[in-house]
Amino acid sequence: MIIVLDFGGQYNQLIARRVRECNVYCEVHPYSMDLEAIKAMNPKGIIFTGGPNSVYGDDSPRCRQELFDLGIPILGICYGSQLMAYMLGGKVETAPVSEYGKTEVEVDNTSVLFGDVSAKTICWMSHTDYIAAAPADFRVVAHTPVCPVAAMECPDRGLYAVQFHPEVMHTQEGMKMLSNFVYKVCGCRGDWKMGSFVEETIKALREKIGDGKVLCALSGGVDSSVAAVLLSKAIGKQLTCVFVDHGLLRKNEGDEVEAVFGPNGPYELNFIRVNAQERYYKKLEGITEPENKRKIIGEEFIRVFEEEAKKIGAVDYLVQGTIYPDVIESGLGKSAVIKSHHNVGGLPSVVDFKEIIEPLRLLFKDEVRKAGLELGIPEYLVFRQPFPGPGLGIRIIGEVTAEKVRIVQEADAIYREEIAKAGLDRCVGQYFAALTNMRSVGVMGDGRTYDYAVALRAVNTSDFMTADVSEIPFSVLTHVANRIVNEVKGVNRVMYDLTSKPPGTIEFE
Ligand code: XMP
Repeated sequence: MIIVLDFGGQYNQLIARRVRECNVYCEVHPYSMDLEAIKAMNPKGIIFTGGPNSVYGDDSPRCRQELFDLGIPILGICYGSQLMAYMLGGKVETAPVSEYGKTEVEVDNTSVLFGDVSAKTICWMSHTDYIAAAPADFRVVAHTPVCPVAAMECPDRGLYAVQFHPEVMHTQEGMKMLSNFVYKVCGCRGDWKMGSFVEETIKALREKIGDGKVLCALSGGVDSSVAAVLLSKAIGKQLTCVFVDHGLLRKNEGDEVEAVFGPNGPYELNFIRVNAQERYYKKLEGITEPENKRKIIGEEFIRVFEEEAKKIGAVDYLVQGTIYPDVIESGLGKSAVIKSHHNVGGLPSVVDFKEIIEPLRLLFKDEVRKAGLELGIPEYLVFRQPFPGPGLGIRIIGEVTAEKVRIVQEADAIYREEIAKAGLDRCVGQYFAALTNMRSVGVMGDGRTYDYAVALRAVNTSDFMTADVSEIPFSVLTHVANRIVNEVKGVNRVMYDLTSKPPGTIEFE
């Protein structure tokens, strides 16, 4: 296994996930992890993440000096590389020119990290400090015109460092570099598979839960479905799933969820469906500010759940389908709050339980899907489009009404149907229709219309942290637009969103 030591960078889990993509098990731990605990885990390698600090700041996170002498290979990334340089006698300074974004880096192919990498390769830089001079026993193995030490190494001690971020997609040959580190430097075999995660998790859940009672909030989305099936395989009827239909689901979705998880479905569990549409619409009346909407939807969910939980009584564990991007984007990690995600926090205070179980907390969406397939969940469920907890509430810009929900449900159903017909449903990361808060003038038949504009969104992404616009064929888009204006009452205009993430987010609110 490889241990990632977290110095507060944004991409900590992304590094871990890249290592898992090399079929090597990987866990993230705080930079302050005890030396003995590290040794006890017997890692084949350690990776230091980036982080927002300067190594020479008084409060900057540092590892123990002895870590460098354990004989365990270490790869320092960004802040981690500067820390390695600084602690081993090199010089770190504020860079005269900071580098941000895609940068051409010249690498030395005699380094094992860069053996099969192009001599000039595009890497993602994001730094204001730099290594001005490498420690005495290190060799500089990459540079840019303004960064003299873009990578350095001391192979005798198994120490490697890169100023750029090999883990992000924009570093074109980053995966080669990381695999060189895990296979060639650390000597990992690469025989870990998602199947091992599933088996080990089921076993661990069974052991932990014993004959305890478990409650799960099931949304019907991929994450909570995979979490529920994991639990159902581990403990069967000891699991109760509560599914709240908040009236902000996709067309027919409530019934589809019931068909899979209800009493006529294939899984052993107790399933409770709560139809709470009306109370949601009432609560959302007149509310337009996105964070307010998110809060109201989240809070109402908690109220509904509380009522159900009271009926069920005390349970031992509460399961949440939280996945990694939810954790960081909700500000529970160290990065800034972008959106308050619906499925993190909240519930615990209203349920009488001993402990929360979040079996997917360390996984990214595509890893959750892999786990879903390993669990034998039907493909149509596993590859279901991701759907946010607040549902259509955040795909309707401005006030939510039953009428607007109808419009966006119908438009979205048409869009999904046509994307599937075009054979694109598996190639596009996420796609959906949203309802803008804009009405404009149109002409239909011989009459004037003054109706809403629907926005279509489609993005390609592997981790949902960054996303590019999907190039859906124009003929498909125009056909969808045509069908929507003709078939969905209240819509006279359809637009296609061309914004990547960042700067846009995937959802509209
Ligand atoms: P954004 O809009 O933040 O979305 O770029 C990234 C991914 O997260 C989903 N999303 C949510 N999922 N609860 C969720 O479970 C939420 O509150 C939430 N908000 C956004 C979004 O659909 C996309 O897949």
